[in-house]
Order: sequence, then C-alpha cells, then structure tokens
Amino acid sequence: MQDFYERNIDYLRLSITDRCNHRCFYCTCNNLFLKEENLMTYDEVNLISQFFYELGIKCIRITGGEPLLRNDVVRIVKALSSRFTVSMTTNGSKLSQLAKDLKDAGLHSLNISLNSLKQETFYKITHARLKPVLAGIDRAIEEKMNVKLNVVVNHMNFDELPDLVEYAFSRKIPIRFIEMMPIGKQNTGVVFEKQILEKLSELNLSPVDIKLGFGPARYFVTKDGNYIGVISALSKAFCNTCNKLRVSCDGKLYPCLGSDFFIDLLAAVRKKIPESEILNMIIKSVEKKPFSHNMIVSQVKNKMNRLGG
Ligand code: GTP
Ligand code: 5AD
Ligand code: SF4
Repeated sequence: MQDFYERNIDYLRLSITDRCNHRCFYCTCNNLFLKEENLMTYDEVNLISQFFYELGIKCIRITGGEPLLRNDVVRIVKALSSRFTVSMTTNGSKLSQLAKDLKDAGLHSLNISLNSLKQETFYKITHARLKPVLAGIDRAIEEKMNVKLNVVVNHMNFDELPDLVEYAFSRKIPIRFIEMMPIGKQNTGVVFEKQILEKLSELNLSPVDIKLGFGPARYFVTKDGNYIGVISALSKAFCNTCNKLRVSCDGKLYPCLGSDFFIDLLAAVRKKIPESEILNMIIKSVEKKPFSHNMIVSQVKNKMNRLGG
C-alpha cells in the first residue's frame, strides 16, 4: 500500500491488550482498562490481520499494554507467523515463562523495555520489580531469540545510560534510547537525542546505515561492533520515512500515532460489513495518513497502552 505522500506502508503495529502489570510514569496505563468485551478476540485478531495481509502488509509487531498478559498470546503469535514476520514489544516480566513457547510459535524478534538496572530507580519509573525482567531478558537470550532493549530516557535514568549500555554490550544485544513522547499526557522533562549522545560520547559512536528492525531507530556502532540506537520522535521527526499503521487493542485503525484520527475496524467486523468494503475503508484511511505528527505543539489524546507506542 502507498499513502497520499507515496510512502510505502508495509508494517503494522497491533496492540492485543491495554492491560499491563507495570505502570511506567510516562505511559497512559492506569487501572481504567477497557471492558474485556471491547478487546479483539483471538478470531478477530486473525480476521483483522488478514485484511492487512491482503493489502500487502508483511510485518507485524505485537504490542500492548503488555502482550504477554494475554492467555492466548502464544496462539496469536503462531497464527500470525504463518502469514507475517512477527515481532513483539514487551516489558519482559513474563518472558522467563514464555520465551521458549514464543520462539517455537515462530516469533521473529523481541524488543524489551529496560529503564534501569537499579531496583529503586526501576520501581520509581515503572512501579514494578526489576528481577523478573532481567531473568526474562536472559531467558530470551538463552533461547537465542533476536533481542533489543528499549530505554525511555528521563531524569531518573539519565546518569545510568553508560551502565545500561555496558549491560547490553556484555550480552551482545543492541540497546535503543527513546525520547519520551507526550502521548495521552504531557510528559515534561524529555531528554533529547543530543543530550543522550553527549552522555555516551566516550564510546566514540559512529553513525551506521543499518536497519535492525522495521521501525524508526537510527543506529550507531562502537569500534567493537556493538549497536546503539536512538528513537528521536521529537527532535528528529522521522515521519517522511514512516512505513506503518497501528491497530489498537479495541480494533481501531490509527494511521498515525501522533493523530487522533481512526476508523473502527472491530465495529465493522462485528456489524458483518462485507470484506471488500472494509478493505476499501482501510485504503481510504491510509490515504488520510497525515504527513507528520504535531507532538511538539499539541499533546495527543491517544492512549499509549491501547495503541502500543
Ligand atoms: P523495530 O525497529 O522493528 O525494532 O521496532 P520499533 O523500534 O518500531 O518498535 P518498539 O515497539 O520497540 O518501539 C520503540 C519506540 O519507538 C516506542 O517508543 C514507539 O512508540 C516508538 N515508535 C515506533 N514507531 C514510531 C512512529 O512511527 N512514530 C513515533 N513517533 N514513534 C514510534
Ligand atoms: N514515549 C516514548 N516511548 C514510550 N513507550 C511507552 N510510552 C512512551 C512514551 N510516552 C515505549 C515503551 C516501549 C514502547 C512500546 O514504547 O517503553 O518500549
Ligand atoms: Fe506497561 Fe509498556 Fe505502559 Fe510501561 S509503557 S506501563 S510496560 S504498557
């Protein structure tokens, strides 16, 4: 599919739940979750993903909330991986138990959030325990899964960036630093890419033209061949190369994270609207994909834990 600006759309982020067992301060996750009946069922996830398959989407990233909280997550991965390259973004807390099953189900890669290596700081940022996350990361590595780490940089973990880098490098996995976005809430105190790279200046990072996934990260390499990525949605908007769509856990298609425009695919499916009409709805909404987000000037109302980042 191509949008109005001739961007190739080949990647879908699919949120399968708004529930999460962490409460990151920058996220919209709280105790006000959607009713179970408003979430896509296993069959609906399959059906809705099939529309995108027919429109040429080849890669899906499963997100949440925390996708591993869904009892049928392994079944979902298995069903999707027969048609798509399937990746997942997770907080890692359930990976010890699930890594092997996910791998056997065909999961291609995992991005795991790790915001601190100190329990006290980790708790301040996520309101959760660090130990299960570290165990989950190591379990996924033992399973030889393709793992990357995500750090949303903020005033609490800024001084720890070199330690986080060392942790990742000692495990030979890439680590990415993310500028905190104002999605669903204001999130002041953003640390920008420039500050992040200054903090890591001793590593003598060289920019490298490599893609370690399907998303917007730009990568740097050290002289030892380790990769660091930055996802700088605010200071270096990457909208001109955007290749993706999003479906929220309640089955709404959002062509852009930074815009409140959506179409309700789940409602269409439940009303039994014919497939050809739904495909047309999708094509029309892709045409309306905005050229760029306006996150710096206005706070976006979307909920991160429904939309999956
Ligand atoms: P890979 O490159 O395939 O590893 O995936 P990814 O980096 O796109 O996925 P991940 O879920 O790990 O997202 C990392 C961060 O990038 C999250 O904070 C996302 O919200 C953010 N992100 C991903 N795509 C976009 C985008 O199109 N626009 C904006 N503003 N942020 C994005
Ligand atoms: N800004 C940037 N990244 C965010 N994430 C969640 N909320 C935000 C935000 N406001 C990250 C998560 C995870 C990915 C899905 O998005 O930490 O790495
Ligand atoms: Fe959960 Fe992810 Fe939100 Fe953190 S950012 S509370 S891990 S959904």
